[in-house]
Amino acid sequence: MKYKAVIFDLDGVIVTTDECHYKGWKKLADEEGIYFDREINRRQRGVSRMESLEVLLEKAERTYTQEEKTEMAERKNNYYREYIKSLTPADTLPGVMDFCSYLRENGVKLAIGSSSKNTPTILAGIGLDNYFDAVADGNQIKNSKPDPEVFLLAAKLLGIDPADCMVVEDAEAGVEAALAGGMDVLGVGDSVVNTNATYKAESLAKFNIDLIK
Ligand code: BG6
Ligand code: MG
Repeated sequence: MKYKAVIFDLDGVIVTTDECHYKGWKKLADEEGIYFDREINRRQRGVSRMESLEVLLEKAERTYTQEEKTEMAERKNNYYREYIKSLTPADTLPGVMDFCSYLRENGVKLAIGSSSKNTPTILAGIGLDNYFDAVADGNQIKNSKPDPEVFLLAAKLLGIDPADCMVVEDAEAGVEAALAGGMDVLGVGDSVVNTNATYKAESLAKFNIDLIK
């Protein structure tokens, strides 16, 4: 295979949690009387919770104190955690398990590189908590995507050179992060139109694996 490791983003690549993030932010925005839509939500993908809140607050009519911001981020996270309680293995996105099994059978290491602090809960929900060779997530990093920190950490935990890793990402910030870390990147979902991505596919189910053999 062309790569020794593949590092997967979590939300929107492995699992359908993006809709739960949208619903959580939408509920908070409605309570605060702040305009919010799916286009704004798209810009929150890949970035940390507090940075996502700042994106939402761009449409706010007043400024919020640090204390208020902390409370709002917590409130959204509580809604979000309610929604992800019902995750099951059926919420894993199309093609993920076949793709991962194929890679593993061919000696490729598998890791998660996610900005989410809820990564352990989500992986447990979909039954993949002991599946990956390494997990790097929002609990271990200082700078979220587009900074490459989380992907470089995943590569380090695997003991593999970043140049030998491919990242799978759905967010623009994530594609940028992978490239900044010196890694090739497969853009899926929204990133199927990202011209910077090394490879593009609507979903992992539609990716031609021959391209990385
Ligand atoms: C990323 C999502 O995976 O995690 C972002 O794409 C989200 O939308 C970020 O803001 C942080 O998630 P959490 O679960 O720590 O609030
Ligand atoms: Mg994502």
